Amino acid sequence: MKLLIIHGPNLNLLGKREPGIYGSLTLAQINDMIHSKAAEMGLEADTMQSNSEAEIIGMIHNGDFDLLIINPAAYTHTSIAIRDAIAAVGKPAIEVHISNIHGREEFRKRSFIAEVAIGQISGFGAESYLLAILAANKLLSKEQGHS
Ligand code: DQA
Repeated sequence: MKLLIIHGPNLNLLGKREPGIYGSLTLAQINDMIHSKAAEMGLEADTMQSNSEAEIIGMIHNGDFDLLIINPAAYTHTSIAIRDAIAAVGKPAIEVHISNIHGREEFRKRSFIAEVAIGQISGFGAESYLLAILAANKLLSKEQGHS
């Protein structure tokens, strides 16, 4: 079973971007953690990052994956197009945020993605991605009729 993990805009700057909010790990370090956790669960994982809404939509349309884990970053709060792409492909999706979007500015509390996601994991730093992989593993093994 294959996971597609998409990191949205500005997440390429992790490590130096507002470390008080997003932590000091770089995206490469987080991707390493993601790959080890997925391997531990016996899952394949592709990690991608883009600053472009159109590219993210293309990844969702073209990706050959069983479950999407997406941190849409600022597009969370603005993108009906990414929401519609997730709905269109009909694959399960988990929304992830490093920071707790509900404990910050008012505009961050609105997620267009939450409505088409199975669930949202927000506020656990880089661990949010690992918690999403645990949830993904559970969902996929349920789909396959195990546990
Ligand atoms: C974020 C939260 C968003 O509000 C913000 O625009 C980001 C990162 C997070 O992971 O905490 O870029 O998605």
